[in-house]
Amino acid sequence: GLPEYVKIVEVGPRDGLQNEKVIVPTDKKIEFINQLSQTGLSVIEVTSFVSSRWIPQMADHTEVMKGIRQYPGIRYPVLTPNLQGFHRAVAAGATEISVFGAASESFSKKNINCSIEESMERFEEVVKSARHMNIPARGYVSCALGCPCEGSVTPQKVTEVSKRLYGMGCYEISLGDTIGVGTPGSMKKLLESVMKEIPPRALAVHCHDTYGQALANILTALQMGINVVDSAVSGLGGCPYAKGASGNVATEDLIYMLNGLGLNTGVNLYKVMEAGDFICKAVNKTTNSKVAQASFSA
Ligand code: HMG
Ligand code: MG
Repeated sequence: GLPEYVKIVEVGPRDGLQNEKVIVPTDKKIEFINQLSQTGLSVIEVTSFVSSRWIPQMADHTEVMKGIRQYPGIRYPVLTPNLQGFHRAVAAGATEISVFGAASESFSKKNINCSIEESMERFEEVVKSARHMNIPARGYVSCALGCPCEGSVTPQKVTEVSKRLYGMGCYEISLGDTIGVGTPGSMKKLLESVMKEIPPRALAVHCHDTYGQALANILTALQMGINVVDSAVSGLGGCPYAKGASGNVATEDLIYMLNGLGLNTGVNLYKVMEAGDFICKAVNKTTNSKVAQASFSA
C-alpha cells in the first residue's frame, strides 16, 4: 500500500538553478530559500560546492549558505563532490551534505571528471569526514533509468553503485532519472533490483520530467514502498552535463497528486506556488508546473 507520509526533498535552489541561463542574484536566491522555508518543507537543497568554472550558477554557494535563515526542524543539504567542496561547505555552515555519483562511466566522467571507482574513493573520504562531524550524508545515483551518453543502464549497475554508497554510510540513496527517460515499467524493474540490497526507507526517487513520465514513475515508486521524493518548485532543473535533461518534476504537481491520494506531506501547496512565482520572475520564465499554470490562469 501507499505510505501515509511522504517526505519531499526540494531541490529547486540547486538542481533548479544550476542549469538556468540567467544567473540569479545571490539576494534573490536567499529570499527564494527563505520563502521555501515557510511552506512546510522539511528538506531544502540549497546549493553545491562545486567548481565555479564548471557551474558558474552555483559560484555564490558560500554567500547563499551563510545568507539564508536556517529554521529549526528544516534541513539544508548541499552537494559536495570531493573533500575540497566538503570543507568549504562546512566552513559556510552546512550541516548536511550529498555526494553524487552515477551508474554510467561516461556520465561520471562528463559530470565530475572521474571514473565511477575514483568517485567512490572520493565519496568514502567525504562521508567519513562527515561522519566524524556528525554530518548526515546523502548519496545520489545519476542515470538510474538511462544515460545521455550510453543509453540504457542496467538495474544491476545502479544497484551496485547504490549499495556502495549505502555501505559507506549514506543514510539515503536518491535514484536519479537524470534525463527523464524512465517509465513505470523501468522504475519497477529498477526498484525490484535495488530493494534487494537497500531497504525502501533509505531510498528516494529523483525524477526529471523530460518525457512526461515523472508523476507516473513517482506513483509507481510510492506503491512499492518508497516515501521520499525529490522535486523542484516550478519544475525547474536539469544537469548541464546531460543534454536534453529538462526540469525536475514540479513540487506543486507532486503535492497536488499526493494531496489527491490523501497522503500527508506537511507542505502548503499555495505557499509553494508563491515561491514558484517568485523564482520564475527571477529567471524570467513561465512555470513548468501544470498545477501552477491552471491555478494562476483560473
Ligand atoms: P576537476 O577539474 O576534475 O577537479 O573537477 P580537480 O580536483 O582536478 O581540480 C581542478 C581545479 O578545480 C582546481 O582549481 C581545484 O581547486 C578546483 P585550480 O587549482 O585549477 O584553480 N576544484 C574545486 N573548486 C571548487 N569546489 C570544489 C572543487 N574541486 C576542485 N569542490 C569537479 C572536479 C567535481 C570539481 C568538477 O567536475 C565539477 O565541479 N563538476 C560539476 C558537477 C556538477 O555540479 N554537476 C551538476 C550536479 S549533479 C546533477 O545535477 C544530477 C543530480 O541532480 C541527480 C540527477 O538528476 O541524476 C544530483
Ligand atoms: Mg537532477
